[in-house]
Amino acid sequence: MTQAATATMNDSTQQALENRLLAPRFYRTNYKALNSVDISPVRREWDSMMAAFAEDKNRAHFKQTYDFDPTSLDVDPALKSDFLDLLVSSITAEYSGCVLYQEIEKNVDNADVATLMRYMARDESRHAGFINRALKQLGVAVDLSVLKSDKDYHYFSPKFIYYATYLSEKIGYARYITIYRHLQRNPENQFHPIFSWFERWCNDEYAHGEAFALLMRSEPKLLRGYNKLWIRFFLLAVYSTMYIRDHSRPKLYEAFGMNITEFDYTVFDITTEISKQVFPLTLNTDDPRFRAGLEKMLRLSNRSEALREAGGMMSLIKRGGLAVASAATFARLFFLPVNKNKLPDQILAAPAW
Ligand SMILES: [Fe+2]
Ligand SMILES: [Fe+2]
Repeated sequence: MTQAATATMNDSTQQALENRLLAPRFYRTNYKALNSVDISPVRREWDSMMAAFAEDKNRAHFKQTYDFDPTSLDVDPALKSDFLDLLVSSITAEYSGCVLYQEIEKNVDNADVATLMRYMARDESRHAGFINRALKQLGVAVDLSVLKSDKDYHYFSPKFIYYATYLSEKIGYARYITIYRHLQRNPENQFHPIFSWFERWCNDEYAHGEAFALLMRSEPKLLRGYNKLWIRFFLLAVYSTMYIRDHSRPKLYEAFGMNITEFDYTVFDITTEISKQVFPLTLNTDDPRFRAGLEKMLRLSNRSEALREAGGMMSLIKRGGLAVASAATFARLFFLPVNKNKLPDQILAAPAW
């Protein structure tokens, strides 16, 4: 990127481009390997899902507008900062899904996979566009074309894309529906209208997760043998990342009138319950050792973040030590006992909204 481009880029685009450990990432995969996907074992459910995508019930939902006075957020700069952080991180995640699904559609010859990816890219593009309209009204829209061209891409093989994307779609659903329901019960805490969109929004994320569940169930070896260790790894990585990231936005949850830790464990419970449709194991998030481990990872991350802000060589060395301690904590969490899960015959879970 040229210096001139950096100088004119706004802070939210800059923030979306940063490659911090906890920031949402952009992915590429082995598109040719996806040509061999054979969904015939789940054809009946697949076809009904494609019919629902074609029906496109949320078509008009994201075209609606709302009245909002952006200066109302200026009375509480700390809340505004946490809210913007949430929006920028969400738009990065939504848009990264959009780009990944578009790229798969463009590069794959398998008609089933291409059709699914086209529908999901359509939805994610709407979601990202809707968030960007909110950001624009607050004067800080993200430049999505810069994000697409300048963000670092990480390579994941298709099976890792399945595990990670399935979880992020289902966790996205669980987060949106939990926030939506809480604000329905506590309307005085709804400080921005975007949260009213979450109920129908989360239906899209739920459906995207169902699609990945079917893709995995069509290839049962992805859910057996040593792949169970990978599933365990992704569950823990996604849960711990969310826990640390949410605790970095205290003002946001205070404004919602939510306890962050309780919110996160509710989201884990919902995600764990849904994931029984496809994963042969679930994490025991009620194990006190699990909870203590997540707290320890949070403390280590907070100390590392403080050192990063301080800068300098000593900080760098100390942060190296904290990274080792964090990896060791992650490893201990990884080896905690898990709950086994017998996969149901019926794949598609009943929606919980
Ligand atoms: Fe989305
Ligand atoms: Fe999605």
